[in-house]
Amino acid sequence: MKILGINETSHDASVSLIEDGKILFAGHAERYSKKKNDWYINDSLVNDALSYGQPDAIAYYEKPLLKASRLFLKGGAGDWKPRFNIDGLPRKSFGHHYSHAAAGYYTSPFNDAVIVVLDAMGEYNTSTIWVGEGDKIKLKHKQNYPVSFGLFYSAFTKLINLMPNQEEYIMMGMAAYGDWKRYYKEVDEYFPNYHAQKYNFHMGIHDWGMEIAEQDRFDIAAAVQMVYTTRLMEFMRMAKLITNKKNLVFMGGCALNSSANTSLWKLFDMIWIMPNPGDAGSSLGAAAAFYGKHLDWKDPYLGYDLGGEYPVNEIVKGILKDGIVAVATGRAEYGPRALGNRSILADPRDPSIKDKVNLIKQRELFRPFAPVIMEECASKWFDMDFASPYMQYTVKCLKPELVPSVVHADGTSRVQTVNRKDNRGLWRVLNKFYLQTGVPMLLNTSLNIKGQPLLNDENDIRNWEAMYNAKVIR
Ligand SMILES: [Fe+2]
Repeated sequence: MKILGINETSHDASVSLIEDGKILFAGHAERYSKKKNDWYINDSLVNDALSYGQPDAIAYYEKPLLKASRLFLKGGAGDWKPRFNIDGLPRKSFGHHYSHAAAGYYTSPFNDAVIVVLDAMGEYNTSTIWVGEGDKIKLKHKQNYPVSFGLFYSAFTKLINLMPNQEEYIMMGMAAYGDWKRYYKEVDEYFPNYHAQKYNFHMGIHDWGMEIAEQDRFDIAAAVQMVYTTRLMEFMRMAKLITNKKNLVFMGGCALNSSANTSLWKLFDMIWIMPNPGDAGSSLGAAAAFYGKHLDWKDPYLGYDLGGEYPVNEIVKGILKDGIVAVATGRAEYGPRALGNRSILADPRDPSIKDKVNLIKQRELFRPFAPVIMEECASKWFDMDFASPYMQYTVKCLKPELVPSVVHADGTSRVQTVNRKDNRGLWRVLNKFYLQTGVPMLLNTSLNIKGQPLLNDENDIRNWEAMYNAKVIR
């Protein structure tokens, strides 16, 4: 039986198709429409999904009536009901947080775990704790709007003149340049008080009544990151206490905070964060909830298919010659990070490469670039004893002087680890580069035109090549 998962009218629309536990397709609307965080799905995306087969049922993300009541009672933006439908098919809607939980648990390798979902808000829920046992998922704790980890983080994103619900990751990067102690107390006072159910953003967080100088922005970012991490650990300790589980599944937009995620290894034996933990991952979550059992998770390369073998030799040759290459091959990543199939790869040893890549990407100079490293070498180069195949953890670099272009101002890197079994093509690239240079890693950043989503199809490749007068290896 094929189930089509639909996430529409929530930021980051997406479509997924599964068949008896196999994930046939999962793709983001924005990659097809070129509208960042597109709220609506489009014909090209739907046609791409349906090229893998006709569905027997439709699973929708979010309960429309519940969402409508929230919009009516509490306000908020957006539609309450998806537009997409196929007449005659059975259909079912699944709650926002339940879909997040299902996307995480049913793609995880666990049969026994606590599932924590933290985001800005679902229909009403903002923070939930679930228990996964076998194929069953049970709710254990919930917290509703307006008390919210995600809203806390987004409110400060707005305060420092970034785009809320979109540029939280920039604020996270800015934190490394700030002094967290300067604003910690003030920022912590704004943190929603879980026990008193008190929420005080409306007391004026969007207008703090002070002139925010450039250094203040970095100091506030640092304080927000510190408060967030401290409060996250409190919440996770509670989740562990009330469920008594050693494995964690972490989902919701907050699970994209790679700096804070690293601390979670202090609390749990094993952690699974699906590579698309935010709303864009929830079309798969809704489909998985409909199926109600574990999916056969292999890798996040589930979107548009450019075909072809991984171009190992061309990539290594190009990097050794020019320092930087653009790569687009195989299926697009399902998730916000470029993990090698729509990537710019570069030599991490060259200190000037960061500026060169920044020039192509036209982005703020303070923003860091991430390394992709052979998994077997990761603990020699970074302070980590776990794998990070989807670039979800930020750790200290142990030899920053050898790979200056992938180390952030605070000496850390957001690492992607690659092993031979799960990602043979990219692993071979790294291994060849290692044999030539003694360095088992490359710089990896997303391949996109500034301000646009990741490249998707052949047409995007042509546009990119024309704009930058450079070749995309495929
Ligand atoms: Fe969400």
